[in-house]
Formats: sequence, structure tokens, C-alpha cells
Amino acid sequence: MVVPGFVDAHTHPVFAGTREGEFEQRTRGATYLEISARGGGILSSVRGVRGASVEELLAQLLPRLDRFLALGTTTIEAKSGYGLTLEDELKSLQVLRAAAAVHPLEIVPTFLGAHDVPAEHRGHTSRYVDLLVHEMLPAVAQQRLAEYCDVFTEAHTFDLDDSRRILSRARELGLGLRVHADQLTPLGGAELAAEFGAASADHLENVSASGIDALLAAGTVPVLCPLVPLVLRQEREAPGRRMADAGLPLALSTDYNPGSCHCQNLHEALVFGALRYRLGAAECLTAVTLNAACSLGRGARLGTLEPGKQADFVLLDLANLEQLAYDFGRPLVRGVWKRGARVVG
Ligand code: NIG
Ligand code: FE
Repeated sequence: MVVPGFVDAHTHPVFAGTREGEFEQRTRGATYLEISARGGGILSSVRGVRGASVEELLAQLLPRLDRFLALGTTTIEAKSGYGLTLEDELKSLQVLRAAAAVHPLEIVPTFLGAHDVPAEHRGHTSRYVDLLVHEMLPAVAQQRLAEYCDVFTEAHTFDLDDSRRILSRARELGLGLRVHADQLTPLGGAELAAEFGAASADHLENVSASGIDALLAAGTVPVLCPLVPLVLRQEREAPGRRMADAGLPLALSTDYNPGSCHCQNLHEALVFGALRYRLGAAECLTAVTLNAACSLGRGARLGTLEPGKQADFVLLDLANLEQLAYDFGRPLVRGVWKRGARVVG
């Protein structure tokens, strides 16, 4: 079967070093928030990125990009967010730019300076938000290093008011918007994303009924990450079926990152999406192609195979569409083409 190249609309691929120790800690009962409160979690990756040079980060990123392509993903959205200083955020985005210049994978860069409050500003969130809106966002926009700005809107990171300041400034500077919304707690992140007309609201494990309505009215694409609650051992899952039934164009993503999902295989996310949310094969395929492309402002060029669009496609060892989530756990990709050129197989 030939399908459009997969589009992964939510990844955090610029990091140095892995965090398998936290996976083990959660196996023994620790929670994501406990690990984060102890200075692990995102902040442990921040220490890694701050200590790494552009060359070192690039050397770790490039094999990850090869792996995305080998797994059938031809476009990724890629966030910064493990630097959390002006210099280290710019460095992360420069690494993405350098990678995009030499690698066939298409990369859509997102500034996620609002991923967490770094150690030097803990307890002074508004001081860090000042830095984001007065220094970091203007520099990112001026150097055209990102297409989107994302915020991790959560009680322990950036609350609704902090997030509003960041999103307003980003919008003023001409960046598109994405929001990590209602992942760990029901804060009204989906409503916030809708209020700003964000391109996407991501995660949504704790989305409310009014949040679903708001996304629909705003045309904001829900980007779900079905592998993450599994890895974090959270029972709460996004109401994917309910959102699809409401008429929302679901996208499925890996959320590839060193903490909450060290998996680059979008087909794996698709399988879990199908199983956990009760999505059909056609819904799943659309969720990893056209809907994801639309959430990245690339729906007119990517995401389907039709005359006039870019020839990004994947040859899968499957007999028909209904086998898409049914046949899993073995290598399915037999070849990958980007812009009409064979890049894998
Ligand atoms: O999408 N939610 C915030 N960011 C990531 C986790 C990143 C990390 O733990 O390093 C996520 O799950
Ligand atoms: Fe994320």
C-alpha cells in the first residue's frame, strides 16, 4: 500500500542524553510531577542542552532525523524547549535550522521557551515570562528561527494568565500558536488555545466538554499523543472518539522526547490511537497525514496524494487500508519518497 508520508505534528527532538532512569522510577511508583518537582524531568534535559555545543546537539539530532524518515515520517514539527535561556533556546533552534539544511526530512520549527520555569527563576515565574516576552520571543521572531510558539500551560508551569502573555506577544510578532493543553490537569488549556485561534491544542487528556466545543468553533486542530499516558502511567486519556464524533479533525503524534515518550514511530502512536480512542483505519491515516499537515499550515501542499501536491509517500507492506492498525509490531516501511525522490529503501 502507498500512503502519504507521515506528518508528526508534535516532537521535541533537540536534546542531549536520555532519561531512562525516570522511566524506571515511574515503574516503581514515582509520578511525572514528583520527578519534575525534584529537579528531574524537563530540567534534567535542560542541564544537558545547556552543556552541549551546536555541533554536539546536531550530532545527536541527525541520526534521530534518519530514524524518523526510516519509519515513514517525511515531515516533523520540532520544538526547542530544553534551553530556557535566550542563548540556549536560540542554539536549539539554530541546530534545527542547520539540520533542515542538510537533511531531506522537512522540519517545522517551534519555539517552546515556555516549556518549564528554569531553576534560576523557580518561584519567580513572572520574571521568566518577562524574559520570554521581552527578549526571547523578539529574538526568535527577528531571526525567523521558528514558525510557531508553544506554551506548556499547566498549574506547575505557566498558568492561564502567564500563557496569555506569552501567546499574545507571539501572535503580535507574527508567530503561529500551539498549546500543550490540559495534559496533566484540567486547567482550560483547550479554551485558551481556542481563544487565541491557535493552530493546535495538544495532549488534551483532561479537556472539558466546553473545551471541545471551543476547539471546534475556533478551527484548532487537536493533536493527540496516545503513547504519553501509557509511558507516564496515567489512567486519564484524551477523549479521542468523542472529539472525532464532535467533528474535530484529530491528528495523532508521537510527542517524541527524552522524558514522556522516547518513541519516534508514528505508526506505533497510530496503533495506540486506534485501540485507545476507537478510531477507524481511515481516521487513523488522516490523523497522521492530512490533519497533521493542516495543523502545521501545510494542508495545501502535504498530507494527501493528489495532482499538484508534493510527492511525499511511503510504501507499506500492507494489503489494504484496514490492515493499517491491525498489523503492527513488525517493520512495515518498504520505501520512503520525499519531494518525489527516494530517500529510504
Ligand atoms: O509533551 N508536556 C511537556 N513536554 C513533554 C515532556 C517533555 C519532557 O518530559 O522532557 C510532553 O510530554
Ligand atoms: Fe510535548
